[in-house]
Amino acid sequence: MKILAIETSHDDTSVSLYENREIIKEITISQTEFHKKFGGTLPEYASRHHAETIVKILKLFLEEFDLNEIDRVAYTEKPGLIGSLHVGSLFAHAIGFSLNKPVIGMNHMHGHIFASLFDNEIIYPAIALIVSGGHTQLWYLTSPKPSDIKLLGGTKDDAVGEVFDKVARRLKLGFPGGPIIDKLAKKGNPIYDFGIKNDDTYDFSFSGFKTKVINFIHNREQSDKEINLNDISRSFQDYIFKPLLIKTKKAIAEFNPKSIILGGGVSANSQLRDEFKKLHQNSLIPSMKYTTDNASMIAIASHVQKP
Ligand code: KG4
Ligand code: ZN
Repeated sequence: MKILAIETSHDDTSVSLYENREIIKEITISQTEFHKKFGGTLPEYASRHHAETIVKILKLFLEEFDLNEIDRVAYTEKPGLIGSLHVGSLFAHAIGFSLNKPVIGMNHMHGHIFASLFDNEIIYPAIALIVSGGHTQLWYLTSPKPSDIKLLGGTKDDAVGEVFDKVARRLKLGFPGGPIIDKLAKKGNPIYDFGIKNDDTYDFSFSGFKTKVINFIHNREQSDKEINLNDISRSFQDYIFKPLLIKTKKAIAEFNPKSIILGGGVSANSQLRDEFKKLHQNSLIPSMKYTTDNASMIAIASHVQKP
């Protein structure tokens, strides 16, 4: 099964040529450098950039490969920035029509779930914790089929990655905040008490916690107290990961999964990776290159969902 996959849901333009769990070639061009200046993604620019970049990427594929050999085109249909998704959808359909190949729209979150398959086997039933800049979700899967993937709970307000980015911005650390806070936290101690509310559901809420951390930084500035970035980062991580780990444990107790899966941009976090591993003897953590958005995860999701 040879698949040409396209991912344009957020700020990465990515195309992958894939065959039977192997990536023949993937090109991913990130817009992060541009959005950095604004401390977040500018949706209007993101779609314009995708429209230009995707043509350049396709030309590179055409120079190297005969795309008539593919069996299908898979693209990210949802969720994501609407203008960015449109670029991927139109492009995927144009290729499908011109090559007379089927075109399959994919759920981006399923891409993050199945990204682990490049390194591991998923044994079902499984629980997946997907944490990114836009989503914080717990899923229960009894097979790879879309109808067998159930959402247990999700973000009610800010997503985990978004809170990392906003706190980093308040500390003037740069964008995206996750990797910077991750690095600082390694040198820090969890000495600050930020507290975080937890409840009995599988949903997540981080906006109250975000405000608490931002107010704490503000108050220390106002009272001329030292702001130790390492200690704040470490304390922040300890608290923000608590509901993720507690709710994953709760899902393990309720559903007795044979494997648990971590995915999404925040799954690049070293502390979260370490702590998630301890939750289950068969915990699947994607290699670093598959934590962020890429078209190969869309290809493998499409392959396992429609073999
Ligand atoms: O899945 P992703 O690449 O993009 C979308 O959200 O669409 O996730 C990006 C998010 C950003 O918020 C970024 O700060 C966060 O993932 N992130 C991290 C780390 N690396 C990226 N968060 C915590 N620790 C990291 N090492
Ligand atoms: Zn994503």
